[in-house]
Amino acid sequence: KTIDSLGDLRGKRVLVRSDFNVPLDGTTITDDGRIRAALPTLTRLVEAGARVVVTAHLGRPKGTPDPRYSLAPVAARLGELLGQDVALAEDLVGASAQSTVAGLADGQVALLENVRFDARETSKVDAEREELAGELARLADAFVSDGFGVVHRKQASVYDVAQVLPAAAGDLVLKEVESLSRATTDPERPYAVVLGGSKVSDKLGVIANLLTKADRLLIGGGMVFTFLAAQGHSVGSSLLEEDQIDTVRGYLEQAEANGVEIVLPTDIVAADAFAADAPHTTVAADAIPDGKMGLDIGPDAGALFAAKLADARTIAWNGPMGVFEFEAFAGGTRAVAQGIVDATANGAFSIVGGGDSAAAVRRLGFDEAGFSHISTGGGASLELLEGKELPGLTVLA
Ligand code: 3PG
Repeated sequence: KTIDSLGDLRGKRVLVRSDFNVPLDGTTITDDGRIRAALPTLTRLVEAGARVVVTAHLGRPKGTPDPRYSLAPVAARLGELLGQDVALAEDLVGASAQSTVAGLADGQVALLENVRFDARETSKVDAEREELAGELARLADAFVSDGFGVVHRKQASVYDVAQVLPAAAGDLVLKEVESLSRATTDPERPYAVVLGGSKVSDKLGVIANLLTKADRLLIGGGMVFTFLAAQGHSVGSSLLEEDQIDTVRGYLEQAEANGVEIVLPTDIVAADAFAADAPHTTVAADAIPDGKMGLDIGPDAGALFAAKLADARTIAWNGPMGVFEFEAFAGGTRAVAQGIVDATANGAFSIVGGGDSAAAVRRLGFDEAGFSHISTGGGASLELLEGKELPGLTVLA
């Protein structure tokens, strides 16, 4: 159901769940991509004359107020981007929230304090979540689910409240689902997927599913060392999940049986330590010396990956290739991003998913317009790629 299904919203109180889980350095937002991505829905509701009440989480506080996770910096940034003051209620459903909502004029936006300051939000007990959802619902006449990054969470402000109020998917959620569906449902081939990030164990489900869906799987990031170890290579002191080696061996066998090409790096940038200024050298991927730690895929691997992307028609990318925050180890991520931009210019449909890869794209200076879709979802986009049903989406159907 879309926002249109909610009818005339002038003067109506609309509760919007957004994903404002942005990276912070103290109280400074270092990447406001998720706030900007929320603007189409919020602007649309403002223009429709709704009284907009936004609920969101920041970080993983322990179900009790914690000033380190206050949404105050988000309220300030959102106000700048919307061009109106955004009041921040001091609580979620208490006296401050109620008076803030009561004070809204048509077309005004307010933000409720971090929804995860209330332990009921993430409770596994249905009745507890439902109780909070009921209290949230009393603040509004309708609900718009627009926090794509949290639709994989069965939480009160994502799932339960959608069962109490007339509910609709916001524009961001619709756009994300449409784009990701192009990869998950009958992708145009060749379909190439680039996976990085530190841990294999975070990606087990998605790898298993892609072994039945993708034509090529390009692996980089910290997780690649478990793949190299599974092939019998030494990985020095690189990140290694020994308990996943057998699983990865199974993946390699299954890939061969399914005709899925697994592309691993041919060279690695290996450093003496995990530091921006650590001495480093490029070594063959099948012989990382003892004491050296792989922090990026090497230049040959970058060129190989770009070549494997060049003729792809659908590309999904999740997870950086190396420690891109340090310039010395950003080359692999840059090569993959450029390869995807070039393939997109040649007509491929490309999706960048996962908070880190999206942040990498922006931080490395790439124009977001060079990619078909940059997802705001980390876990949510991975779970869609994995073929799972997401509670925050099924509840809107
Ligand atoms: C994210 O950052 O991926 C989303 O905001 C979800 O956050 P969570 O993993 O803490 O639920």
